[in-house]
Amino acid sequence: MATLDLQNISKSFGAAKVLQDISLAIQDKELVVFVGPSGCGKSTLLRIIAGLEEATTGQIVIDGADVSGAHPVDRGISMVFQSYALYPHLSVFENIAFPLRVQKMADAEMRKRVATAAEILQLTDKLPLKPGQLSGGQRQRVAIGRSIVRNPKVFLFDEPLSNLDAALRGDMRVELSQLHRELSATMVYVTHDQVEAMTMADRIVVLNKGKVEQFGPPMELYHHPATKFVAQFIGQPNMNLLSGTVKGVGPEGLAVEVTGGTVMTLPVEAGGTRAGDKVDVGIRPEDIGLGAGLRMNVNVLERLGGQSITYGLLADGARFCATLDGDAAVREGEAIDLTVDPADCHVFNANGDVLRRLKAPELTR
Ligand SMILES: Nc1ncnc2c1ncn2[C@@H]1O[C@H](COP(=O)(O)OP(=O)(O)OP(=O)(O)O)[C@@H](O)[C@H]1O
Ligand SMILES: [Mg+2]
Repeated sequence: MATLDLQNISKSFGAAKVLQDISLAIQDKELVVFVGPSGCGKSTLLRIIAGLEEATTGQIVIDGADVSGAHPVDRGISMVFQSYALYPHLSVFENIAFPLRVQKMADAEMRKRVATAAEILQLTDKLPLKPGQLSGGQRQRVAIGRSIVRNPKVFLFDEPLSNLDAALRGDMRVELSQLHRELSATMVYVTHDQVEAMTMADRIVVLNKGKVEQFGPPMELYHHPATKFVAQFIGQPNMNLLSGTVKGVGPEGLAVEVTGGTVMTLPVEAGGTRAGDKVDVGIRPEDIGLGAGLRMNVNVLERLGGQSITYGLLADGARFCATLDGDAAVREGEAIDLTVDPADCHVFNANGDVLRRLKAPELTR
């Protein structure tokens, strides 16, 4: 049992405010991923949880106990870093056993724990080898093994896969998700890779400039991004954004004029926006199909087999992307007509906040 509560955490380095009033309640056995662009404060927040850095204000609470002042070793936490260091002259066994040797643990118990960790990580036959005889992914697993043997309450991972090549990263992603299930442990995982975040997380925290933009399950962030930032960060290829002008507000939603004079009625609440206001209309490439609506000149066509990712420019020069069928009859250099269901559009006000969708009539009855 290990819950992890961050309460109003702020951090400044001199005049630079790196984290601003972050509160998160992480549940027992949950895998939470912190994701955001470089410099947004992910590692700093993780280091504050681990006790390697002190928060300027706020509390860290583990299982109901305030550990804000506790030494890192006394927090029951284990952290795996991006650049993990293995001892090259020690065997895999000794590398994994290292923290237990430091604790002067009894030999039998130590061997049992290393054997269990090695089995979970499929390293049993590698135990006698030296790190230099392992692949990158196996070395990464040894580093993780070293954190498992300590039986921590909470695992912290800071971009543990970023040194691996793409294929290995994919494999390790699956292995780590499996490990999370087997250990039933509370884990916080930092990455700037939205695919890692989407595939591994129970819930994702999107950080931007030291603030939480949104905290929720992956598909909630995908379908209901709260801000323009989240909308553009989650999803591949990125969501298209068309700049629009509000023409009117009615019971069916907002009439918005977008590129080329097209007026769309978007089923969202006005939320304070009025005729004449600027908004951004977000459209996911995968929500677009062939049909009358927006004309795009195709510049680049990526045939992936099952899908054709089509990049081009709209009449007003705006960049646009559509994910079409694998065999879609489109060609580079030609114009195509695209259509989207207004119900699939996301609308953001000038502050970048989403305008709430109108409730479907049958739901409001
Ligand atoms: N010890 C420090 N002294 C001063 N500024 C720091 C210190 N540590 C971090 N920062 C600043 O805090 C901000 C957040 O850094 P942090 O390492 O948490 O970012 P990050 O989200 O982990 O980025 P990345 O994805 O590049 O690892 C950065 O602007 C960084 O320059
Ligand atoms: Mg970092």
